[in-house]
Amino acid sequence: MYICVNPVFMKRDEFSGFFGVLVATVGSAVGLGNLWRFPYLVGQNGGAAFILVYLAFVIVICLPIMVAEFVIGRSTKANTVNAFKKLAPGSLWRGIGIMGVIASFCILAFYTVVGGWTVDYLVRSVIHLFSKPDISNLEAQFSQMVTSPLRPIIWTIVFIALSGFIVMSGVKKGIEKYSRVMMPFLFVMIIILAIRSITLPGAEAGISFLLKPDFSKITTETLLDALGQAFFSLSLGMGCMITYGSYIPDKENLTRLSFTTALSDTFFAFLAGLAIMPAVFAFGVSPQEGPGLVFIVLPRIFAQIPLGNVFAIFFFLILFIAAITSVISLMEVITAYLTEQKRIKRTWAVGIISVVVAVCACLSSLSQGLLKDVKIFGKTFFDFFDYLSANILLPIGGLLIVLFVGWRLKRSQVYEQFTNSGSLKGTFFRAFYFLIRYVAPVAIVILFLNVILK
Ligand code: TRP
Repeated sequence: MYICVNPVFMKRDEFSGFFGVLVATVGSAVGLGNLWRFPYLVGQNGGAAFILVYLAFVIVICLPIMVAEFVIGRSTKANTVNAFKKLAPGSLWRGIGIMGVIASFCILAFYTVVGGWTVDYLVRSVIHLFSKPDISNLEAQFSQMVTSPLRPIIWTIVFIALSGFIVMSGVKKGIEKYSRVMMPFLFVMIIILAIRSITLPGAEAGISFLLKPDFSKITTETLLDALGQAFFSLSLGMGCMITYGSYIPDKENLTRLSFTTALSDTFFAFLAGLAIMPAVFAFGVSPQEGPGLVFIVLPRIFAQIPLGNVFAIFFFLILFIAAITSVISLMEVITAYLTEQKRIKRTWAVGIISVVVAVCACLSSLSQGLLKDVKIFGKTFFDFFDYLSANILLPIGGLLIVLFVGWRLKRSQVYEQFTNSGSLKGTFFRAFYFLIRYVAPVAIVILFLNVILK
C-alpha cells in the first residue's frame, strides 16, 4: 500500500460547512475590540453619529476587503506567505504575508495581556458569587492588579496556554469545534445582559446616547478612529481572514459569508453598547471612562443590581470567550505559516509561538508597572504593540491587500472565486470590484496620511 508521507500531498484541514466557517470567522471578529474598545469610542465620539460613520466604513471599505482576503485564501489554500507566493511567484508581494505574521505577534503581545485581566476578573467574580465584593475602591483595585508584577502575568500565561491548546487541536477539531460551542453561547449571554441593562431604571439616557446622533462630535480624528476600529474589529489587514479563508470549502459563498460575519460583528458591538451604556447612565457615571470602563465601571454596577453577582460572571465570561476566539485566529496565522513553510509539526509550532508571545506579553504587562518608564518611540511596550499593529501594520497591510486583489490579480481570477467558478450569479461583483480598486485604497491612504502627519 502506498502511504503518503509528503505533507504536500496530505489533505489540508478544512472547516466543515457554512456554520463551521461562520462561527470561526465571527469568533475571530468578535473580540475585545467590540466589548472593550467600541463602547468607549462611541462614548468619546458622539454616540450614534460615530456608529453611523462606523457602519458606512464597514459596508464601503471593510466588507470588500474581507471578501478580498477570502478570495486570496481560498484560491490558494495556503498560509498568508505562501498564498502571495502562489499568486505572484517571485515577487515582493509575499512581504504582505510576512508583515501579517509580524502583525499577529504584535497584536498577541498586548491582546493576551488584556485576556489575562479578563481571566483574573472572571475568577474573582466567581469567588464573589456568594459574598459582597468591596466596591469602594474599584479603580485602585484595577490599577493595583494591572501594575503588579506577577499576578497579571500568571493569568496571561494561563490565557495563552488555553488558546494554544485549542489551536494545537487543529482547524476542524480545535478552532471550529470550540467555536461552535462558545459562539452561540456568547450571543445568548450578551442578549441577556443587554436586556438586563436596558430595563434598569434610568437606562433611557444610555439608550438615547447610543441612538441619537451628535454630528458636531465628528472630526477627522473620529473618522480615523472609526476606520481603525472597523479594521481591527473585523480582523482585517494582516491575513487573519486569508488564513481562515484558506480553510473555506469551495462550495461556500464568500460574499454571503463576509456579509454575515460583518453583520454579526457589528450587531454584537451594538449589543455590547446596549449592555454597557444604559447601565453606565443609570448609575450616573461618565461614558468616557476609557478602557477602564469594563473593568472599573461595570463591577460597580454589578454590585448594585439584583443578581449582579451572576451577571458579573456572565459579563467576564463573555469577555473571556470573545478574547480567546480572537486570539486563536491570530495564532493560527503564525501556526499555518510555521507548519507549511517551515515544516514544523503543529504541536511544536504552537509551543514555540506560545513561548514567544508569552515573553512579549510579559513585557507589555510589566510596562503597566515596573517597566513603565522604558519607552520605545515614546511609548510603553503595551502601547507600542497596540499602536504599531492598529495604526501602522493593519492599514498598510489592508492597502496592499486591496491593491493586490484590485490591480495585480486578473479580474477573471477574482470573478472565479467570487462566483465559485460561475455557479453563483455574482450580482455584487461590479460594485465589489469598483470598491476594491478605487474607493478602498483611496480611503485608506487619506486616513493613513492623517495618522502619520498628525
Ligand atoms: N477582531 C478582534 C477584536 O475585535 C481582534 C482580532 C483578531 C484582530 N484577529 C485580528 C484584529 C486580526 C486585527 C487583525 O477584538
